[in-house]
Amino acid sequence: EKGGYKHFMAKEIAEQPVVIADALKHYTTPEGGLRLPEGVDFKGVDRITMVACGTASYACHVAKYWFEQIAGLPAEIDIASEFRYREPPLSGQSWAVFVSQSGETADTLAALRYARDKVARIVSVVNVPTSSIARESDLSLPILAGVEVGVASTKAFTCQLTVLALMAVKAGLDRGRLTAEQAAAHLGSLRNLPGLMNHALGLSGVIAEVAEELAEAQDVLFLGRGAMYPLALEGALKLKEISYIHAEGYASGELKHGPIALIDARVPVIVLAPRDGLFDKTVSNMQEVMARHGKVLLISDAAGVEEAGAGVWKTLVLPEVEAAFAPILYAVPAQLLAYHTAIAKGTDVDQPRNLAKSVTVE
Ligand code: M6R
Repeated sequence: EKGGYKHFMAKEIAEQPVVIADALKHYTTPEGGLRLPEGVDFKGVDRITMVACGTASYACHVAKYWFEQIAGLPAEIDIASEFRYREPPLSGQSWAVFVSQSGETADTLAALRYARDKVARIVSVVNVPTSSIARESDLSLPILAGVEVGVASTKAFTCQLTVLALMAVKAGLDRGRLTAEQAAAHLGSLRNLPGLMNHALGLSGVIAEVAEELAEAQDVLFLGRGAMYPLALEGALKLKEISYIHAEGYASGELKHGPIALIDARVPVIVLAPRDGLFDKTVSNMQEVMARHGKVLLISDAAGVEEAGAGVWKTLVLPEVEAAFAPILYAVPAQLLAYHTAIAKGTDVDQPRNLAKSVTVE
């Protein structure tokens, strides 16, 4: 049932190009237009509030950038355990969106129940269509990732992102922020992702070599800007969950506001940075790290690696991708780094200590 892989996690990482292509096929027409359920109509919606736990919350965090930038729609995010007890005021013209692989996470379900009757629509993005969260939503969009067994969520994350990206494009059209041509260009970029992810999967051997050294670290920092910032949080969560190495994700611009104090020659700093409009700012962050003998692993595209110049510890080169959707592609090396580091440490990759696949108690 592991399909020739040693672990479910390896299988599920490798499945991503296929399941993402499936999700795109399901939610778009053969001509390449959107085909989301009828209720996904953002006209008159004044904001969306996205709520989830763990990796699913990082998918919401990435999607916040998309809803704001692609659709100009105010988007808030919260983790379910805070949202439900904080009891925030919600607009009756807003949507509350709950993202969950299992659809059974206790805090996310309680957050959904809190939002009921306070918002215009309860929407969920789930992997298990028969789950409580799916059943209790006005509208539920399956992510079509297939069964995910590994406790560390991988393919569910990128499928959540794919569905949220399609929703953001729909919001952009409904709100008159995107022309049909601009929407088609975004959809074209999304359709390229499975091929680009196959390329990223081809880096597995190189990543395994880097992981041998990463496995020696006590602490690892992940940095990213913009929509890559939540991916830095996700990369750190993945690494700590299965390798038990202490890892933190930060927005690159926050480095000098505290975490730079941790940097010395023993702290690897993993920089997730396609060469986008803010790349030069990230280069100066890397220089600050290197000036303190920090070991930078730069994950970028060929142009980014070239521009970053000498002095970085290691580089991983990914193909070019539309900047907005880079987190979907860059999730693959982040997952592979965690996976291979855990293998190098000999930990139980599919069943990490203290963790359950579905957290149905608070
Ligand atoms: O089933 P859910 O998506 O609601 O689960 C949320 C989190 O418990 C989950 O993403 C957790 O953080 C994973 N172990 C991450 O790999």
